[in-house]
Amino acid sequence: MPLTCNIDPIAHADHTDITQGLSQNPASISPKYFYDQQGSRLFEAITQLPEYYPTRTENALMQQHASDIARSVGTGRTLIELGAGSCQKARTLCQLVQPACFVGVDISADYLQDAVAALSDDLPWLDARAVGGDMTQGVQLPADIPRTGRLVFYPGSSIGNFDPPHALALLAHMRELIDDDGGLLIGIDLPKDVTVLEAAYDDAAGVTAEFNRNVLRHVNRLIGSDFDVDQWQHRAFFNADASRIEMHLEALANAQVRWPGGGRAFEQGERIHTENSYKYPLPVFTDMLARAGFAQAEAWTDERGWFAVVHARP
Ligand SMILES: C[S@@+](CC[C@H](N)C(=O)[O-])C[C@H]1O[C@@H](n2cnc3c(N)ncnc32)[C@H](O)[C@@H]1O
Repeated sequence: MPLTCNIDPIAHADHTDITQGLSQNPASISPKYFYDQQGSRLFEAITQLPEYYPTRTENALMQQHASDIARSVGTGRTLIELGAGSCQKARTLCQLVQPACFVGVDISADYLQDAVAALSDDLPWLDARAVGGDMTQGVQLPADIPRTGRLVFYPGSSIGNFDPPHALALLAHMRELIDDDGGLLIGIDLPKDVTVLEAAYDDAAGVTAEFNRNVLRHVNRLIGSDFDVDQWQHRAFFNADASRIEMHLEALANAQVRWPGGGRAFEQGERIHTENSYKYPLPVFTDMLARAGFAQAEAWTDERGWFAVVHARP
């Protein structure tokens, strides 16, 4: 059985963070609150959608350049995946680079624990651990995880969910997690045609819309609010000035939302900003890596130039 350092994400969810975000104009909810069990399941369904190219493109890249990536990364490492989710990408990478140990970290702790248990069943030779927690509060690893030979794995272009200053701070934190012999293997979604981008975040089957609205159910449980989820619709569009996809929830009618100790009114058409997904040109991103302490970067991109996998080293 994998060891779980079960840090209850609800205990870490700063109620003030959520209620302050909701009280702003415009209101916002951090995308980390997407991921209760249902949110994790919905994200997994998104990765299967025809419009959602990032997972498919990143997986194909990892397969196409498997031997180069394996040579660059090396075997026998301590593999630490941040935001590991279903551990699907870790499964492929573990088979490729045979790490000495795998540690999955995720805010959706129960979902992660099941995923790591399934990974352990499939790869019985692997020492696999699950660590539940919010990585934006600092990644806390079990004390017996060696510092040397670490490879931090951060696929899925999840770094794009942070605005550039916070992305830089998170990359610098990843640098702190490794010694000079360590590395970071990270997936980056690159700028591309707006129609491709917008379809990926607003699919015809409405799965992304359901994922977006589910954040309100999770927030209702976390802070005791009374959002009527059916009264909010999904909005996703590319903001070219900021080079990011934005997701919002838009009120279908005037709404009064209450939570213990507070509340606010929303007018019809008013929005709650729930996610950004920044698209960085590769040179801009490698410059950010260098500023975070990763001076060397080896990158692989697909033929269309839609996505990059980067192995960065100090
Ligand atoms: C976009 S999904 C990516 C999942 C998987 N790594 C992939 O590439 O398909 C983001 C993952 O990060 C996790 N996550 C989001 N915010 C987090 C946070 N602040 N701390 C830890 N995990 C977080 C989510 O639960 C989810 O599993």
